[in-house]
Amino acid sequence: MSNATDETFISQLLAQMTLEEKIGQLNQINPGDEFDPSLLQEGKAGSLINASGALTGMGFSDSGSAELSNHFQKLTLESRLKIPLIFGRDVIHGFRTVFPIPLAQAAAFDPDLARQAASIAAREATTSGIKWTFAPMLDIARDPRWGRVAEGNGEDPFLGSQMATAIVQGFQGEDISAPDKLVACAKHYVGYGAAEGGRDYENGEISEPTLRDIYLPPFRAAVEAGAGTLMSAFIDLNGIPATANRRLLTDVLRGEWGFDGFVVSDWESIKELIHHGVAEDDAHAARLALQAGLDMDMVSGVYLNTLGESLRQGKISMEEIDEAVRRILRIKHRAGLFDHPFTDPLRATRDLLTPESRDLARQFARQSMVLLKNDRDLLPFKDFRRILVAGPFVHARGELFGTWTPDGRAEDVTPLDEALRQTAPKGTELWFTENVDMALHLAHQADAVLLLLGEHPVRSGENCNVSDLGLPPGQAEFVQAMTALGKPLALVVFAGRPLAITQQVKVADAVLYAWHPGIEGGAALGEILFGQASPSGRLPITFPRATGQVPIYYNHKNSGRPIDPNGEFKTRYLDLPPSPLFPFGFGLTYTRFEYSNLKLSAETLRGALEINAEITNIGTSPGTEVVQLYVRDLVGSLTRPIRELKGFQRVELQPGETCRVTFTLREEDLAFTRADGTFGVEPGSFHVWIASDSKSGLNGHFRL
Ligand code: NOJ
Repeated sequence: MSNATDETFISQLLAQMTLEEKIGQLNQINPGDEFDPSLLQEGKAGSLINASGALTGMGFSDSGSAELSNHFQKLTLESRLKIPLIFGRDVIHGFRTVFPIPLAQAAAFDPDLARQAASIAAREATTSGIKWTFAPMLDIARDPRWGRVAEGNGEDPFLGSQMATAIVQGFQGEDISAPDKLVACAKHYVGYGAAEGGRDYENGEISEPTLRDIYLPPFRAAVEAGAGTLMSAFIDLNGIPATANRRLLTDVLRGEWGFDGFVVSDWESIKELIHHGVAEDDAHAARLALQAGLDMDMVSGVYLNTLGESLRQGKISMEEIDEAVRRILRIKHRAGLFDHPFTDPLRATRDLLTPESRDLARQFARQSMVLLKNDRDLLPFKDFRRILVAGPFVHARGELFGTWTPDGRAEDVTPLDEALRQTAPKGTELWFTENVDMALHLAHQADAVLLLLGEHPVRSGENCNVSDLGLPPGQAEFVQAMTALGKPLALVVFAGRPLAITQQVKVADAVLYAWHPGIEGGAALGEILFGQASPSGRLPITFPRATGQVPIYYNHKNSGRPIDPNGEFKTRYLDLPPSPLFPFGFGLTYTRFEYSNLKLSAETLRGALEINAEITNIGTSPGTEVVQLYVRDLVGSLTRPIRELKGFQRVELQPGETCRVTFTLREEDLAFTRADGTFGVEPGSFHVWIASDSKSGLNGHFRL
């Protein structure tokens, strides 16, 4: 929220600004090849984006990025009013220390780790002069064909909101003006994940209750955590491109939620209003966006080139321009840029890739991997003398990063084969090959086979959509050929999305989903495979059996003819069971847990209710369980999801140990967007589960 110092300062500055200087603040530029320094010297840019790689690959040392941004800042401070630039960059899941992709981070079900990782990313990125990251991405995704599913937290609004809060806090800290903190940008506001057919940039339709209860909550959480900025989505949502949606950008965001920061467009998305067919030319597009509440134009130049003339023609007002400038100056002021516009180049040598950062990256990678199958306890590997390790990821380095890592360096990564060698117990021989024929040949003499498969990072991320969720070409055949040998077979799948690996899960003895695990992915994997650590990740998104099941998500509505395998006129496919391959929340570990003694503190929730159950480690090794709380509102004025996640806790238990896990459910946790459009609870009956995933659990009832 604004404070008096910000506001007095901004008002005084605004009073001195010419129209050109004001419009300059609304303009973000990309310093490409034809960069014109006079744009900075004349105050015609408020921000500089480095997404083009302008700060990488230019032959600078670690400290060179700071020198370069300081150089741009110096030019800017030659301008009349000396309003500093804010440097923005895509610091999505780490900077030099690359953490697991966001989807994998969500799989750790540990927002505190995400907070710590974001804090490290902020410390590292600010060494380059970057003060603003285009993260976190908070798009709910129910369609893994969409490549950007890798960049978000999966399908659930509760988990997504917890992650949003934690990541914003990690980037921004208590005080964003601290030299090692970054301004967060919650993106892409809103509904971007609902792009039809999983095709990035496509249109989407989302009903108002679903928008409010599923897609908006993570953004609201980010705003409540103090996120300084938001980015509008490329999407045309319900016929209004998000970049020109006044109801969402102004009425909801500022009016209902009290957001006082600024909104930036996505790359050229203001100009794209012409392609959408809601604007006839640049000037029209710029007007629509400004009047919707969009403050900064990311690189399309249409604000810079047309807003002055639109003002002279009386099509927009000075108040509208002033309001956008005010918001941008507010965040720059809050970020301390007026007092500290430059970056100490020596920080890079201290703050990049520290041992503590690597440790956290390793812990995060370990916690994010999800064990999907483990027949006869094949994993962790024990008593195998010779293990054949084969597949396209055998020598992976930078491939472990995943999408959006412009500042990660492959040479910082221990290659996967080496990392496995370092973590394997003495006496275990590992034979590596990428070659299928060689693998088939060697497998005969091996005691067990480990296949490292999945998607190369270039197959996930922005606009990397697929129509087939199967493994990339050739890999399914490879798995099939290897199973013919009858050796114990474990698969590790690297991917930026859920893959429909139904057939491979069937034939393999063990399957571990490693996502794109980041800089320490190899060591983390080795520790899990060889038993120094046990897996504890859970799926933050439903895994379909086949592409044709998409969209498939756990918190769906019941329908009038709910799923029933024996029902002829029940919702179904003729050629596939209706259930997913693995449900949301699912994940195994090296031990087993038993749930018992569910207790509710009352039969009726008045204000709040305590729900608890006993969890016992009934296996022989220590392990971590992610205990989940779900509810179902049985009757509503609108149909309600069959389950909704309302809480989760990670508990670590020794063999034989029992603990009681307690959740508090408050009345407001049961609120939803009702038939009359208001938000609140409705009295009635509820089901509640304490569960290890979204399909199982101990079931109880209460009334509200
Ligand atoms: C386009 C992407 O949609 C957005 O996520 C990113 O932050 C911007 N480009 C800037 O690189």
